[in-house]
Amino acid sequence: MTDSLKTTRTAEILVNGIAEQFERQWGQAPSHVAVAPGRVNVIGEHVDYNGGWVLPAAIERYMVMAVRPREDDVARVADANFAGVIEFTLNEIERDSTKDWSRYIRGVLAGLRNAGYKVTGFDAYMDSTIPVGAGLSSSAAFEAVTGLAVLGMTGQEMDRFELAKLCQTAEHEYAGVPCGIMDQAAVLNCGEGNLLFLDCESETFQQAPFDAPEWRLMIINSGVAHELADGEYGKRRAACHKAAEVLGVKNLRHISINDLDGTLANEGLDEEMVRCVRHNVTENDRTHKTVQALAEGKISKAGKLLNQSHDSLRDDYRVSCEELDYIAATAQQLEGVAGCRMTGGGFGGSCIALVHKDVAASVGGSITIAYQAKFGNRPGVFLTAAGRGGWVETT
Ligand code: GLA
Repeated sequence: MTDSLKTTRTAEILVNGIAEQFERQWGQAPSHVAVAPGRVNVIGEHVDYNGGWVLPAAIERYMVMAVRPREDDVARVADANFAGVIEFTLNEIERDSTKDWSRYIRGVLAGLRNAGYKVTGFDAYMDSTIPVGAGLSSSAAFEAVTGLAVLGMTGQEMDRFELAKLCQTAEHEYAGVPCGIMDQAAVLNCGEGNLLFLDCESETFQQAPFDAPEWRLMIINSGVAHELADGEYGKRRAACHKAAEVLGVKNLRHISINDLDGTLANEGLDEEMVRCVRHNVTENDRTHKTVQALAEGKISKAGKLLNQSHDSLRDDYRVSCEELDYIAATAQQLEGVAGCRMTGGGFGGSCIALVHKDVAASVGGSITIAYQAKFGNRPGVFLTAAGRGGWVETT
């Protein structure tokens, strides 16, 4: 029953399919196929750019890129979901105002080259099952899959966290989104069956087992496309950094929950900064408590923390929207749902819910019916296991 919420192409099917499509397009077999998953953040939202702690999982939705190196410096990329071919030479990969999707590829190629890695021309073919604009990090997967494919086909190795940082720089400089490190780290460093408990200041992480056989991660995509480059994300980030400056800390993560009331009384903080500080301090506390609750198998406790996270993102941080609030409120009332919150950057995109496996299909159905009655369109609902970070295969 619950499998009906899981039907999509597996990584294996995608990898096999992309090799055939590559050959049809370019007349030869690819040398390598790289795979990068999307990610869902379980908790620890809007804290990564303040040195906080996050808890994402890789999802079973993937971007795949088949490649074959060329003798010259031409890059040609075709994609199963877009008509036409993107073509450029390696002399043309510097930052420019190009708005097409090749900016993610160019950004990573430039980063690799600037870091001293060999970059050659190549032919590529791509496909993806990660919904775009759903808060599931399709752009981080795009960057990661490019990095893995190019490193793979040129026989080079790179530390995964270094590659994540390089991808983050590409996102800043080529896509214009001042994101934190969570998404790129998640799509590259998550371990199968685990959540990635990442300290975004020290850039160290632990694999936190998602060891709850009766429970599933459910993703509910509102279908409202989020646009992080539109300014609100940058405004929150700037207010947080200003608040840290006023409080004399490197990052908001250094304020303990025990000092919160005293900190908020600081006269140098305006109303906006107070909200940002309160969200960050309480969210970091919730994330630690969630890790502990999950380790102890206390799913309903973890679920309540997810619900509180949603409230904080809606009321203090103001990055939710009517559709996400409706999904969270609807899901939270259903039997067998431990908790539900918006996930990712917000302003649209998806919610994540912790759902008991026995009722996952009926929960998905109830949310779909209620959402469609209110907003007129069906949300995209699916279950995912905590998957593995990206990889590359030779073909
Ligand atoms: C986006 C950004 C991440 C993170 C989240 C919010 O996904 O890319 O770096 O800030 O929003 O937690």
